[in-house]
Amino acid sequence: MPDREELKRIIDDMATMYKDKAVIDTDPSFREELVDALLGMTQTEVENIIARVLVVDARLDAKDIPEIIQEKIQIIRKSGVLEFYPLNESLDSIGGLSTLKKWLLRKRVCFQSKAREYGLEMPKGVLLTGVPGCGKSLTAKAVASEWKMPLLRFDIGKVFGMYVGQSEENVRRAIQTAESIAPCVLWIDELEKGFAGVGFTDTDSGVTSRVFGTFITWMQEKMNPVFVVATANDVSKLPPELLRKGRFDEIFFVDLPNAKEREEVFSVQIKKFKRNPDIFDLSSLTRYSEGYTGSDIKGVVKAALEEAFLDNGRELTTEDIFLQIKQTLPLSATMKERIDSLRNWAVNRARPASSQWEEIPVPSIENFSQRRKLEL
Ligand SMILES: Nc1ncnc2c1ncn2[C@@H]1O[C@H](COP(=O)(O)OP(=O)(O)OP(=O)(O)O)[C@@H](O)[C@H]1O
Ligand SMILES: [Mg+2]
Repeated sequence: MPDREELKRIIDDMATMYKDKAVIDTDPSFREELVDALLGMTQTEVENIIARVLVVDARLDAKDIPEIIQEKIQIIRKSGVLEFYPLNESLDSIGGLSTLKKWLLRKRVCFQSKAREYGLEMPKGVLLTGVPGCGKSLTAKAVASEWKMPLLRFDIGKVFGMYVGQSEENVRRAIQTAESIAPCVLWIDELEKGFAGVGFTDTDSGVTSRVFGTFITWMQEKMNPVFVVATANDVSKLPPELLRKGRFDEIFFVDLPNAKEREEVFSVQIKKFKRNPDIFDLSSLTRYSEGYTGSDIKGVVKAALEEAFLDNGRELTTEDIFLQIKQTLPLSATMKERIDSLRNWAVNRARPASSQWEEIPVPSIENFSQRRKLEL
């Protein structure tokens, strides 16, 4: 796929070719924007879209950028495994996870080209693991908006095509597309769905292992500014090679939110439903929601709002949310064993995403923080 320089040349060639019939705006900042929009398409695709846009009003300028981006979104979606994801979250829409947020802000700086000139290596990416519903996917989405980069979601489940050889080709093409769009964030959700069991079974004549090999070799060697944010629930199923240093810059464990974090999540979620969090009794809500995940909290706020609306559209109150808390069994209660085993795995292998173990103990954490502190 053409890089920036090649794209500039293609645009110039097209401008010359069409010079009697149409104009391509020569403003330098527009040209940069145009190149950004075209990155990730093949030469033929670029020529086709430019020709198509020029036919409409004999001009290619800033008003055509959205159409070009739409076209690119379609082309990339058709390739099957990658999808552009809208940028509608920010780090402010995440409650808690302060260590992870700080870490991401630092990596942002190391991602810039002046860090390369200084001699730093290109950040590779981060693996987020932990308790379901506590903000892993949310963080992946927030990173891209915060860094003002396109977000590409890589569907690892779809990689495994029907024909022999197709899966590897799919991965290679996805990597190539991501690299041509770089700088970008490549989000791989639920990594274990693709790579669980690599090296343990041989049911698909080694396809999974080969795809996995392609992927980790790329992770190890990549030089382009593609920042990988991978999420996984059950990391113990992942092949150990993936977790070795040099693949990801860091592995974070996202645990159940502690009291301070739950208060933040309530505040964020109430704000998301366009209500003012200051008029709610957040500290009581926090006290009675021990063991709740971020997703549980979102659920009770949403249900409470629905009830209030059905009750003649009156305004939402703290009591409405209380009522929903009373009726909801948090995920952590129904999955206690599973959560304990995730935490046990994480003790020596991952870094806590929040500074909770330094400050306030997490609900029913049973020695997790103490053990970690001793071991550190
Ligand atoms: N820390 C948080 N702050 C604010 N909202 C949160 C937080 N954690 C979860 N939520 C809410 O719950 C929803 C689900 O969270 P998310 O998809 O990030 O969970 P996850 O960790 O990826 O879970 P899973 O392992 O099930 O994929 C989010 O869209 C968000 O609305
Ligand atoms: Mg998720």
